[in-house]
Amino acid sequence: MEPRVNGERLHGRLRRLAEIGATAGGGVTRLALSAEDKAGRDLLRAWMEEAGLRVAVDDLGNMTGRRPGETDEPPVLLGSHLDSVVRGGRYDGALGVLGALEVVETLADHGLRTQLPLVVVNWTNEEGVRFEPAMTCSGAVAGRFERAYVYDRTDRAGLRFEAELRRIGYLGEERPRPLPAAYLELHIEQGPVLEAAGGAVGVVGGIVGITWLEVTLEGQADHAGPSPMGSRRDALAAAARVVSGVERLARERDAVAVATVGRLVVEPNVINTIPGRATFSVDFRHPEPAVLEAQVAGLEELVAGVAAETGVRGTVRRFWTSEPTPFDPGVVGAIAGAVEDLGLPRHTLWSGAGHDAKYLAEVCPAGMVFVRSRGGLSHCEAEFSSPEDIEAGANVLLGAAIRLADAAD
Ligand code: GLV
Ligand code: MN
Ligand code: MN
Repeated sequence: MEPRVNGERLHGRLRRLAEIGATAGGGVTRLALSAEDKAGRDLLRAWMEEAGLRVAVDDLGNMTGRRPGETDEPPVLLGSHLDSVVRGGRYDGALGVLGALEVVETLADHGLRTQLPLVVVNWTNEEGVRFEPAMTCSGAVAGRFERAYVYDRTDRAGLRFEAELRRIGYLGEERPRPLPAAYLELHIEQGPVLEAAGGAVGVVGGIVGITWLEVTLEGQADHAGPSPMGSRRDALAAAARVVSGVERLARERDAVAVATVGRLVVEPNVINTIPGRATFSVDFRHPEPAVLEAQVAGLEELVAGVAAETGVRGTVRRFWTSEPTPFDPGVVGAIAGAVEDLGLPRHTLWSGAGHDAKYLAEVCPAGMVFVRSRGGLSHCEAEFSSPEDIEAGANVLLGAAIRLADAAD
């Protein structure tokens, strides 16, 4: 009889974790390195210790809990992140960390050892909401970011990543970062594909490319009354044109291109002054690198055109790109095998969201399991996946982990 996860334990922990940073609308705000992040980490640490895992924290705050294997070979790493966006859902990230913990607990319940050690991981600052960009600490482990770069990230209040990591007590030891044998991440889909297909779980083929930019438009702040419309240089009115142009760039490209302006700061942001400056983000995503480049070129052209028409000064700063990344066929195969063993239909899809698995995939074989999202919603309080689907996803994670770590009685 193949082992199965303990659904009650997993759901109970998801509920308990969701109390930390709970929002009125049923979601969570648990920003990286906040008091809520610390409370979530403390709870995870306690659970990992109770499960007999050896807990460690590295100099980026990444938390790991290790279960030994029969051999001391590189481990299979399983996890995701506990940080959230503002008024996000309770499953994004949390499911992958608690699902990983459930896998090792289930193996212990059944007295099963694996050949390779298993390591549960909580990556710091996956969302990149408080400290842009996203996935900084898996990225640093994969050698894509210098530690100094990560430590120097600041939030909107000017607080530094390093100081905040120290403040919450999760600035750990610098340690060697041996490469894992494989990396597995369980996550909610965050899109509509599985729901439309009628599937509880999905095998993820890869992650789309993402690029993040910041646009600054500088006009002239002036009194809202005595300034005739013809002589204004209104930065927000100019930004409005750019924002609708960004939408058009994606709509006119193809069916899979997406583009989002998610944050916007207007200065001085008062009722009776013409806005002198507008600063906003642009997020482009596409599976093909060439299309991402074309979107960036399109944005630069758009901003230059709006600047010429309106008299504002426009600058575009591109500060982060996560290239499209297909997953390792061996890991994808292990996940597909686990899906088959459970008698579930196989659905394969790509991820439109970024995940730590992207950076891990650059340094070791990696793959992901998706769980159906109701209405395709995420990064909002309405995010929901059913307990049955979550359990199915966790069982796929378990099956794939056993295949990759080569379980033995
Ligand atoms: C992370 O959730 C991202 O895809 O931006
Ligand atoms: Mn996530
Ligand atoms: Mn997210």
